[in-house]
Amino acid sequence: MNEFFISPSILSADFAKMGEDIKRITEGGADMIHCDVMDGTFVPNISFGPKMIADIRSYTSLPLDVHLMVNRPERYIDVYAKAGADYIVVHYEACGTLVDTLKKIRKLGKKSGLVISPDTPAEVVYDYLPLTDLILVMSVYPGFSGQKFLPSSLEKLEKISAKIKESGLNIRLQIDGGINEETVKLVKKAGADTVVAGSSVFGASDVAEAIKKLRDAQ
Ligand code: DX5
Ligand code: ZN
Repeated sequence: MNEFFISPSILSADFAKMGEDIKRITEGGADMIHCDVMDGTFVPNISFGPKMIADIRSYTSLPLDVHLMVNRPERYIDVYAKAGADYIVVHYEACGTLVDTLKKIRKLGKKSGLVISPDTPAEVVYDYLPLTDLILVMSVYPGFSGQKFLPSSLEKLEKISAKIKESGLNIRLQIDGGINEETVKLVKKAGADTVVAGSSVFGASDVAEAIKKLRDAQ
């Protein structure tokens, strides 16, 4: 899997004009759309729930990758699958029944994702690779967009990328937090094939150009 994917995070969109913003990034060349669900408990912020996913579904045919920043995400897998998520991504730190949850996501016909926060070591994901379609490495502490990229995520990408290659499995390696024209070069080199970008896409006057810059950066 060589293709480099850009997944703009709608946390940085205008919530009062969400449909328009979804269309802008779809027409602007995004590959996926990153939807940050926050419960105010696992992270100190509240964003939106399944109705947002269901509502944006009719504005785009791009895959929706739903990043669940909620405690015990196993309670909500059915709900987000039904709402129209394509990837359902759960936090290692928040999920009490990881094996069953990842299996369940796949059983519902969705792609399963596992995400680690900055204080969690890369090694914890290794055992779960056969159960996942996407691994997400957080390069900021989850909760807010517009934070500074944490360089400690680079070594994690390198380690996980090597493990994925070794496994021969078809798994996307995604990074989320502080991605801009400069940091994207570093994460590409470290092995990421999918980047989430919130403020650097929605903060630009031309979202298509911002997406292209991330894709072309070397
Ligand atoms: C942070 C979220 C991110 C965030 C990224 O908790 O998971 O997806 O929206 O925003 P930027 O790209 O601005 O760091
Ligand atoms: Zn996210």
